[in-house]
Order: sequence, then structure tokens, then C-alpha cells
Amino acid sequence: MTTEQICRMIDQFAELGTSRLSITGGEPLLREDFTEVVKYAREKGLFVSLATNGSLIEKHIDGLKYVNSVNMTLDGPEPVHDQQRGKGNFKKVIRAVELIKKMGIPVYIVSVITKNNCTNIHKILELARSLNIKVLLQPVFFAEQSHANNLEGYANARYDDKIMIETLDYLIRLKEEGDQSVILSKRYYMNVKKSIASETKIKCRNAGSLFCTISPDGRVAPCNLLVRDMRWLNGNEVGFKKAFINIPEVNCGGCISSFLDIDDLYSLKLDVAWNYYKHYLKLLTMS
Ligand SMILES: C[S@@+](CC[C@H](N)C(=O)[O-])C[C@H]1O[C@@H](n2cnc3c(N)ncnc32)[C@H](O)[C@@H]1O
Repeated sequence: MTTEQICRMIDQFAELGTSRLSITGGEPLLREDFTEVVKYAREKGLFVSLATNGSLIEKHIDGLKYVNSVNMTLDGPEPVHDQQRGKGNFKKVIRAVELIKKMGIPVYIVSVITKNNCTNIHKILELARSLNIKVLLQPVFFAEQSHANNLEGYANARYDDKIMIETLDYLIRLKEEGDQSVILSKRYYMNVKKSIASETKIKCRNAGSLFCTISPDGRVAPCNLLVRDMRWLNGNEVGFKKAFINIPEVNCGGCISSFLDIDDLYSLKLDVAWNYYKHYLKLLTMS
């Protein structure tokens, strides 16, 4: 999409009452118009979050001033992160995290649990604690429609179910002990465990009605995992309101992505709302 098309999209979602714009990718900081887009979204009253691998942060200091929160990908300790993302990238992430913290912007680590880091989760948490930031930990998903199946590398990330369940048990224990460094709720990890143990996928309720994902060319999909599907209407052609309101009922197979937790929050599950409220309170006391 052109900058102009993105701004018209923001106009239409702001009119619909949208409160949050999460910018992801691909790598959003590859766009030269990043500052223009985030500035515009803030002017329209949206809360703007950014998902990035951190490598181009220094180039976009001006734009970052308009960002409300940053999700920084870190796949594990230095050897694991650099194995998955290329040599030297771990240090770049740490530099980027420190820079964003200095700017006073809330920053979170996002770690995808794979075969390569499954047994190293405690090290990611130790690192996050030493940086005084929280971690969003979710298992790698292999959704039919997502980018996952198109990349050979993902096949090598396939975990052993038994080890993943042990990792999930560890995270559930941390949540029960009141650990504040793990962002997602205990309910999410219990659901994922159930899903992996019984090989059933969990379906969300609000994809396509309370949130959606826009594809790079403007199609309005119910969620990130379904974004490659060509059946969704293109907002540049029919208008974003129409494309959103006409998202057909989603008949997906379910998933284990962290979208499930956001979905439970939007469904006003009290334990999940309480989990996020506690994080929010902590943020208030830190600022
Ligand atoms: C799609 S990326 C976009 C931002 C940025 N380019 C990056 O690499 O972090 C956003 C997050 O999704 C995660 N992700 C990508 N594919 C995934 C998958 N199949 N399962 C779980 N998480 C995935 C990435 O690790 C990253 O933390």
C-alpha cells in the first residue's frame, strides 16, 4: 500500500472506533514512510504498537517518538538468536531495547518457543529480568495459511510435544507463583497445553469482529494467521469499513497463537483481564 492508502485506511478505522493499531510485518521499519504513518495514526487517536526485529531502530528515532509500545523479537540467548536470525543480531536487539527504554517507551520481548530454545526459556526470562522488561512467550505455530508453512526453516523449529508441554507447565507454575515477567495469562498456557496434548486447536470468538489484520496489499482478514487467504475484500477497492463489516464467518481450524489471549481479554474473561490489569498497574508505577 502507498502512504496515502495507509492514511485513508487509518481514517476509516478511526471512524469505526478502532482504538489500537499494531504494526507488524515483515519488518515495518523497512518502510521509508514509517514516521509519517505512525504520526498520522496518533493524530487520529489510535494507540500504536510496533513489532520489530530491532535492526533498523536507530534509523527511525523520529518515528519512534509516536509509538506507544514496542514488541522486540528475541528468540533466545545469543547463540540461539544469532543462529535463527544471523550473526550479530542479538547484540543489535539489546542495543535497540536499551535505546527504546531510554526514550521512555514501554518495550517488551517477544520470544517464539521452538525446538531450539525450548530448554532455554529460563535464560530468556533471566535476561528479560536483567533488562527489567517483560516477555511474551508463545510456541511457534504452523497454521496452514500463515507465512510459517512457506519457510523451510520453520520445519526445523518443530518441537517435541512432550518437551513443549514441560515448558508450558513451567510457565503455568510461574504464573501461579505470581511471576510478573511473563505477559500472557495462565489461561493461555493451559489452553495451549490442552491443545497440544489432545491435538485439538482452539478457536477464538472475536477475530473479524473486534480485531482484524490488513494484508500488505489492503485485504481485510480476520487475523494474522489467515492473512494470505485471497477471499477477503480489499479495502482499497471497496473501502475499509465495508471490507471489515463483510468479513465472512471464519471457519478456521483454530490455533495456538497469542491471539487467543487477546481474544479472551476481549471476551472479558475476568482472570485474563486481571492478568493484563496487573501489568498495566506495574507500568503506571514505573512511569
Ligand atoms: C511476524 S514478526 C514481524 C516483526 C519482525 N520482522 C520480526 O521478525 O520480529 C512478529 C513476531 O511474530 C513472530 N512469528 C513469526 N512467525 C511465527 C510463527 N509461525 N509462530 C509464532 N510466532 C511467529 C516473530 O518471531 C516475531 O516475534
